[in-house]
Amino acid sequence: MKRRVLCTRDALPGGGLVRLASRADADVVRWTGTGKPEPAELAELAGRSGGVSAILALGNDRIDAGLLDAAGPGLRVVSLASMGFDGVDQRAAAERGVVVTHTPGVLAETTADLAFALILAAARLTSTAESDLRRGLWPGWGIGQYLGHDVHGAVLGVVGWGRIGQAVARRATGFDMTVLHHARRPTGAPGYIADLDDLLAAADIVSLHVPLGPQTHHLIDERRLALMKPTAVLVNTARGPVVDEPALAAALRSGALFAAGLDVYEQEPAVHPDLLAAPRTVLLPHIGSATVETRTAMARLAARGVVTALAGGIPANAVSPPAG
Ligand code: DGY
Repeated sequence: MKRRVLCTRDALPGGGLVRLASRADADVVRWTGTGKPEPAELAELAGRSGGVSAILALGNDRIDAGLLDAAGPGLRVVSLASMGFDGVDQRAAAERGVVVTHTPGVLAETTADLAFALILAAARLTSTAESDLRRGLWPGWGIGQYLGHDVHGAVLGVVGWGRIGQAVARRATGFDMTVLHHARRPTGAPGYIADLDDLLAAADIVSLHVPLGPQTHHLIDERRLALMKPTAVLVNTARGPVVDEPALAAALRSGALFAAGLDVYEQEPAVHPDLLAAPRTVLLPHIGSATVETRTAMARLAARGVVTALAGGIPANAVSPPAG
C-alpha cells in the first residue's frame, strides 16, 4: 500500500506537491480549507485518511501532540517549509520518535534582503510619506518634511548571529555601516558585544534575527526599549513575540524610539491595534522569504526532507530534539 503524506496546504510553489508525490511514491493528503488549519482540523484529516507517514507543514502551523498521535504510529517526519520551527511541539515529536526538519540556508539571503528593505523604509519614513502622497496630503516639496535618519554610516546592531543576521551584516558593509552583533555565545567575529543592553544603547539601527524560544520571548521589552537611542530604528523579521508590542508602540508614540519596521507579529494574522496606530512604523505581512525563487527552494527542500526520512535516512536539516 502507498504511504501517505499530509500537507497542510493544497499547493506548494513550483509544483512542489506533485514532485513530492512522485519522488516519495506516496499519496498526498492535502488540507484544502481556507487559511491556516488548526491542529485539531489536521488531526481529523490525518485520522480520516487512516494515518500518515509524514507531515509537510509551514512555519506558522501548529503541530501538537494530538496531531502527532492522530497521524498514527507510522509517522516518521514533520518537514517544515520554513526556517522557524517554534510551532512544533518538539518534545512530543522526540518522544514519538518523529524527526523534525526545516529549511535553513535557502531563505537567509532573501530574508536579509527584506530586513534591509525594512531598515531603509523605517529609517527614511517611506510608508508615512507614500501614504500621505496617495491620500493627496502631500503639499509639495518642503525642506522640513519626512525627515528620517541616515542609514549609510550608521551603527547597525544585529541581534542573533545565524545565517540571516550575518547576511544582513554583509549588506551593511555596502552602506559603510559599523556592524555590532550580539549572540548568546561569543562568535569570534569582529563587533561581538556580549551584553545585549550595551548593543542596544550603541546602535542606530537594531535588526532582530533570533529564533523564538523561552529565552527570546519579549527579549525586547519596555526596559530594553528604553536603552535605545531616541533616534534609533528597530527592525524585526524574526518572530513577533521577540518584541513586546504594546511597549514598542508606546516607545514610538512617546518619541523614545524613532521608527520601527516589522514583518512579524505576536498574534498573526492579527496586528496589535497600538502598532497599527503607532507613528513612523512600517508594517509588512510576514513576507521575509516571499520570492518565487526562495519559496520554490523551500518547498523542494521540505519535500526532500520527507523523501529522505521515508527512505530511512536522516534529513540534512533535522532539528536536534530539545535537551532534558
Ligand atoms: C520562516 O521560514 O521561519 C518564515 O518566517 C515563515 O514561517
